[in-house]
Amino acid sequence: MTALKNIAIFASGAGSNAQKIIDHFRRSEAITVKIILCNKPGAGVLDIAARENIPSVIIEKEAFFRSEEYVQLLQRNNIDLIVLAGFLWKVPSNLVAAFPDKIINIHPALLPKFGGKGMYGNFVHTAVIAAGETESGITIHFVNDHYDEGRIILQERCTIDANDTPDTLAQKIHALEHRFYPAIVERLLT
Ligand code: GRF
Repeated sequence: MTALKNIAIFASGAGSNAQKIIDHFRRSEAITVKIILCNKPGAGVLDIAARENIPSVIIEKEAFFRSEEYVQLLQRNNIDLIVLAGFLWKVPSNLVAAFPDKIINIHPALLPKFGGKGMYGNFVHTAVIAAGETESGITIHFVNDHYDEGRIILQERCTIDANDTPDTLAQKIHALEHRFYPAIVERLLT
C-alpha cells in the first residue's frame, strides 16, 4: 500500500476549482485533500471545506509573510502538493523554498501574457478582450518567487468570439479549469 498523498488547497474565493479537485479525489485510496487554507474569512471555499469535512485554516497575514508557522503546519500535515486555486496573495519565499516544485497555480489566461500582480478574475478577461485577442485559455504552472512566472505545466485554449464579454469568457475559462486542473494534480501525484 503506497503512502497516501496529501494535497493542501490555498484559495481566496468561491472555490469552484477546489470543489472540482475534492470531487475528483473523493473515492481515491491514494490521494486526499487534507487541508484548505484561505486568506478571506467568509469566502465560499470555507463553506465547501465545512460541507466536505475538510479542515480549514484562515491565514493570518503577518504570520504568513513573517514566520515559519504555515510552513510548519504544512509539513506537520505531510503535504505532498500545494494547489493554489484562486489564491490572491503572492506565496512567500520561505514557503516556495520549503516545497520546491510542489506548489502549483492555475491562471485564467495564456501566460506570459496577461499575468502578474492584479491580473485575476474579470480583470484578466477584460484585458484579453480589450487587447483584441481571438483566443484565451488557462495556464497551470509551478509557483516560484515571482507572480505567474514559474515553469508552465499545461496550457489549454478557447476561442474568443465577437460577442464574448468578460463574463462569457470567464465561463469558458472556468470550464477549462474544472476539466484540466484535477487531472494535472493527479498526474503530478502519481
Ligand atoms: C480561477 O479563475 C483561477 O484561474 C484563478 O482564480 C479563480 C478561482 O476561481 N486563479 P474559484 O474560486 O476556484 O471559483
